[in-house]
Amino acid sequence: MLSQDELKTLVGQAALQYVLPGEIIGVGTGSTVNKFIDALASMKDGIAGAVSSSVASTERLLALGIPVFDANDVGEIAVYIDGADEIDARGCMIKGGGAALTREKIVAAQSRRFICIADESKLVQTLGRYPLPVEVIPMATQRLVRQFALLGGQAKVRVEDGQPLVTDNGQHLLDVTGLQIHDPLAFESEVNQWPGIVTVGVFAHQRAQVCLLGTRSGVQKLAF
Ligand code: A5P
Repeated sequence: MLSQDELKTLVGQAALQYVLPGEIIGVGTGSTVNKFIDALASMKDGIAGAVSSSVASTERLLALGIPVFDANDVGEIAVYIDGADEIDARGCMIKGGGAALTREKIVAAQSRRFICIADESKLVQTLGRYPLPVEVIPMATQRLVRQFALLGGQAKVRVEDGQPLVTDNGQHLLDVTGLQIHDPLAFESEVNQWPGIVTVGVFAHQRAQVCLLGTRSGVQKLAF
Protein backbone atom coordinates (compact mmCIF):
# COMPACT_ATOMS: atom_id res chain seq x y z
CA MET A 1 0.00 0.00 0.00
CA LEU A 2 1.57 3.29 -1.13
CA SER A 3 1.60 6.25 1.25
CA GLN A 4 0.40 9.72 0.19
CA ASP A 5 4.03 10.80 -0.02
CA GLU A 6 4.85 7.89 -2.33
CA LEU A 7 1.85 8.75 -4.52
CA LYS A 8 3.23 12.29 -4.84
CA THR A 9 6.64 10.91 -5.84
CA LEU A 10 4.97 8.71 -8.44
CA VAL A 11 3.09 11.56 -10.15
CA GLY A 12 6.08 13.89 -9.83
CA GLN A 13 8.16 11.39 -11.80
CA ALA A 14 5.33 10.67 -14.28
CA ALA A 15 5.15 14.37 -15.15
CA LEU A 16 8.64 14.17 -16.71
CA GLN A 17 7.02 12.72 -19.87
CA TYR A 18 5.49 16.19 -20.52
CA VAL A 19 8.80 18.06 -20.32
CA LEU A 20 9.89 19.01 -23.83
CA PRO A 21 13.60 18.80 -24.72
CA GLY A 22 15.30 22.19 -25.08
CA GLU A 23 12.26 24.09 -23.72
CA ILE A 24 11.55 26.20 -20.66
CA ILE A 25 9.15 24.47 -18.28
CA GLY A 26 6.63 26.26 -16.02
CA VAL A 27 6.94 25.04 -12.44
CA GLY A 28 4.31 25.34 -9.71
CA THR A 29 4.60 25.11 -5.94
CA GLY A 30 3.93 22.62 -3.17
CA SER A 31 4.93 19.25 -1.82
CA THR A 32 3.88 17.37 -5.00
CA VAL A 33 5.75 19.82 -7.23
CA ASN A 34 8.81 19.40 -5.00
CA LYS A 35 8.83 15.74 -6.07
CA PHE A 36 8.61 16.86 -9.69
CA ILE A 37 11.48 19.31 -9.25
CA ASP A 38 13.63 16.58 -7.71
CA ALA A 39 12.84 14.31 -10.67
CA LEU A 40 13.51 17.14 -13.14
CA ALA A 41 17.10 17.35 -11.90
CA SER A 42 17.76 14.05 -13.71
CA MET A 43 17.13 15.74 -17.08
CA LYS A 44 18.33 19.27 -16.33
CA ASP A 45 20.92 19.20 -19.11
CA GLY A 46 18.15 18.51 -21.62
CA ILE A 47 16.03 21.60 -20.88
CA ALA A 48 16.62 25.33 -21.18
CA GLY A 49 15.39 26.00 -17.64
CA ALA A 50 12.26 26.92 -15.74
CA VAL A 51 9.89 29.75 -14.90
CA SER A 52 8.92 29.40 -11.27
CA SER A 53 5.75 30.32 -9.37
CA SER A 54 7.26 30.99 -5.95
CA VAL A 55 10.37 31.86 -4.01
CA ALA A 56 10.32 28.35 -2.52
CA SER A 57 10.28 26.60 -5.91
CA THR A 58 12.92 28.97 -7.28
CA GLU A 59 15.24 28.13 -4.42
CA ARG A 60 14.72 24.39 -4.92
CA LEU A 61 15.29 24.61 -8.68
CA LEU A 62 18.46 26.67 -8.30
CA ALA A 63 19.82 24.37 -5.59
CA LEU A 64 19.53 21.50 -8.09
CA GLY A 65 21.31 23.50 -10.81
CA ILE A 66 18.23 24.25 -12.93
CA PRO A 67 18.30 27.80 -14.36
CA VAL A 68 15.26 29.96 -13.48
CA PHE A 69 14.04 32.66 -15.88
CA ASP A 70 11.92 35.73 -15.13
CA ALA A 71 8.45 35.32 -16.68
CA ASN A 72 8.95 38.66 -18.45
CA ASP A 73 12.04 37.39 -20.24
CA VAL A 74 10.36 34.43 -21.95
CA GLY A 75 7.40 34.16 -24.29
CA GLU A 76 4.70 31.53 -24.19
CA ILE A 77 5.63 28.47 -22.15
CA ALA A 78 4.68 25.09 -23.62
CA VAL A 79 3.90 23.22 -20.41
CA TYR A 80 3.13 24.17 -16.82
CA ILE A 81 3.31 21.50 -14.11
CA ASP A 82 1.61 22.15 -10.77
CA GLY A 83 -0.33 20.51 -7.97
CA ALA A 84 -3.80 21.33 -6.66
CA ASP A 85 -5.72 21.33 -3.40
CA GLU A 86 -8.82 20.09 -5.22
CA ILE A 87 -9.56 19.16 -8.82
CA ASP A 88 -12.96 18.32 -10.31
CA ALA A 89 -14.00 16.18 -13.27
CA ARG A 90 -13.60 19.14 -15.66
CA GLY A 91 -10.06 20.05 -14.61
CA CYS A 92 -11.13 23.08 -12.55
CA MET A 93 -9.13 23.44 -9.36
CA ILE A 94 -8.76 25.08 -5.99
CA LYS A 95 -5.16 26.16 -5.46
CA GLY A 96 -3.20 28.30 -3.04
CA GLY A 97 -2.81 26.04 -0.02
CA GLY A 98 0.87 26.90 -0.25
CA ALA A 99 0.11 30.65 -0.61
CA ALA A 100 1.54 30.86 -4.13
CA LEU A 101 -1.72 31.16 -6.08
CA THR A 102 -1.08 34.53 -7.73
CA ARG A 103 2.20 33.60 -9.35
CA GLU A 104 0.83 30.16 -10.13
CA LYS A 105 -2.06 31.71 -12.04
CA ILE A 106 0.31 34.06 -13.89
CA VAL A 107 2.60 31.24 -15.04
CA ALA A 108 -0.39 29.02 -15.87
CA ALA A 109 -1.86 31.81 -18.01
CA GLN A 110 1.46 32.15 -19.84
CA SER A 111 1.50 28.41 -20.61
CA ARG A 112 -0.22 26.45 -23.37
CA ARG A 113 -0.93 23.34 -21.28
CA PHE A 114 -1.51 22.88 -17.56
CA ILE A 115 -0.56 19.41 -16.33
CA CYS A 116 -1.86 18.89 -12.81
CA ILE A 117 -0.15 16.36 -10.55
CA ALA A 118 -2.05 15.22 -7.50
CA ASP A 119 -2.77 12.27 -5.27
CA GLU A 120 -6.26 10.78 -5.44
CA SER A 121 -7.44 12.57 -2.27
CA LYS A 122 -7.61 15.80 -4.32
CA LEU A 123 -10.30 14.62 -6.77
CA VAL A 124 -13.74 16.01 -5.82
CA GLN A 125 -17.20 16.27 -7.34
CA THR A 126 -17.73 19.88 -6.33
CA LEU A 127 -15.03 22.39 -5.41
CA GLY A 128 -15.26 23.92 -1.94
CA ARG A 129 -14.52 21.30 0.70
CA TYR A 130 -10.95 22.64 0.89
CA PRO A 131 -10.87 26.21 2.32
CA LEU A 132 -10.61 28.52 -0.68
CA PRO A 133 -7.42 30.66 -0.60
CA VAL A 134 -7.83 34.25 -1.77
CA GLU A 135 -4.96 36.76 -1.95
CA VAL A 136 -6.16 40.23 -0.94
CA ILE A 137 -4.94 43.79 -0.52
CA PRO A 138 -4.86 44.18 3.28
CA MET A 139 -6.98 47.38 3.44
CA ALA A 140 -9.86 45.51 1.78
CA THR A 141 -9.78 42.50 4.13
CA GLN A 142 -12.83 43.15 6.31
CA ARG A 143 -14.96 44.32 3.40
CA LEU A 144 -14.09 41.10 1.52
CA VAL A 145 -14.91 39.00 4.61
CA ARG A 146 -18.42 40.53 4.45
CA GLN A 147 -18.65 39.93 0.68
CA PHE A 148 -17.87 36.22 1.14
CA ALA A 149 -20.42 36.02 3.97
CA LEU A 150 -23.10 37.10 1.47
CA LEU A 151 -22.15 33.99 -0.58
CA GLY A 152 -22.41 31.80 2.54
CA GLY A 153 -18.65 31.63 3.12
CA GLN A 154 -16.69 32.21 6.32
CA ALA A 155 -13.42 33.97 5.51
CA LYS A 156 -10.48 34.00 7.93
CA VAL A 157 -7.14 35.74 7.55
CA ARG A 158 -4.34 33.15 7.24
CA VAL A 159 -1.96 33.55 10.14
CA GLU A 160 1.69 32.51 10.49
CA ASP A 161 3.61 32.89 13.76
CA GLY A 162 0.75 34.94 15.23
CA GLN A 163 0.74 37.48 12.37
CA PRO A 164 -1.14 37.65 9.07
CA LEU A 165 0.83 35.61 6.55
CA VAL A 166 2.54 37.86 4.00
CA THR A 167 2.69 36.38 0.49
CA ASP A 168 5.63 36.55 -1.94
CA ASN A 169 3.79 39.61 -3.32
CA GLY A 170 3.54 41.40 0.04
CA GLN A 171 -0.22 40.83 0.45
CA HIS A 172 -2.47 38.85 2.81
CA LEU A 173 -4.53 35.68 2.36
CA LEU A 174 -8.09 34.78 3.28
CA ASP A 175 -9.15 31.13 3.59
CA VAL A 176 -12.87 30.75 2.92
CA THR A 177 -14.85 27.77 4.21
CA GLY A 178 -18.51 26.86 3.66
CA LEU A 179 -18.60 27.35 -0.12
CA GLN A 180 -19.96 24.90 -2.69
CA ILE A 181 -18.63 26.07 -6.04
CA HIS A 182 -20.95 24.52 -8.63
CA ASP A 183 -19.97 26.90 -11.45
CA PRO A 184 -16.24 27.57 -11.06
CA LEU A 185 -15.98 29.76 -14.19
CA ALA A 186 -18.78 32.09 -13.08
CA PHE A 187 -17.52 32.13 -9.48
CA GLU A 188 -13.98 33.04 -10.53
CA SER A 189 -15.23 35.78 -12.87
CA GLU A 190 -17.45 37.31 -10.19
CA VAL A 191 -14.94 37.30 -7.33
CA ASN A 192 -12.17 38.61 -9.61
CA GLN A 193 -14.15 41.81 -9.96
CA TRP A 194 -14.39 42.65 -6.28
CA PRO A 195 -12.08 45.57 -5.40
CA GLY A 196 -9.18 44.41 -3.26
CA ILE A 197 -9.00 40.88 -4.67
CA VAL A 198 -5.53 40.08 -5.99
CA THR A 199 -6.25 36.47 -6.94
CA VAL A 200 -8.99 34.00 -6.13
CA GLY A 201 -7.77 30.40 -5.76
CA VAL A 202 -10.34 28.99 -8.20
CA PHE A 203 -8.52 27.99 -11.39
CA ALA A 204 -11.29 27.62 -13.96
CA HIS A 205 -10.09 30.01 -16.66
CA GLN A 206 -6.64 28.46 -16.17
CA ARG A 207 -7.91 24.92 -15.66
CA ALA A 208 -5.83 21.77 -16.21
CA GLN A 209 -5.88 19.95 -19.55
CA VAL A 210 -4.45 16.79 -17.99
CA CYS A 211 -4.31 15.47 -14.44
CA LEU A 212 -1.88 12.74 -13.42
CA LEU A 213 -3.60 11.28 -10.40
CA GLY A 214 -1.66 9.08 -8.01
CA THR A 215 -3.87 6.16 -7.00
CA ARG A 216 -3.25 2.97 -5.05
CA SER A 217 -3.18 1.13 -8.36
CA GLY A 218 -0.75 3.50 -10.06
CA VAL A 219 -0.86 6.75 -12.03
CA GLN A 220 -4.22 7.44 -13.65
CA LYS A 221 -4.34 9.98 -16.48
CA LEU A 222 -7.41 12.22 -16.68
CA ALA A 223 -7.72 14.36 -19.82
CA PHE A 224 -10.20 17.25 -19.89
C1 A5P B 1 0.43 26.23 -3.71
O1 A5P B 1 0.05 27.54 -3.49
C2 A5P B 1 -0.73 25.40 -4.11
O2 A5P B 1 -1.52 25.88 -5.12
C3 A5P B 1 -0.35 23.96 -4.37
O3 A5P B 1 -0.28 23.66 -5.72
C4 A5P B 1 -1.36 23.13 -3.74
O4 A5P B 1 -1.56 23.63 -2.43
C5 A5P B 1 -0.98 21.67 -3.70
O5 A5P B 1 0.03 21.48 -2.78
P1 A5P B 1 0.53 20.05 -2.36
O6 A5P B 1 1.13 19.44 -3.55
O7 A5P B 1 1.54 20.35 -1.26
O8 A5P B 1 -0.65 19.31 -1.82
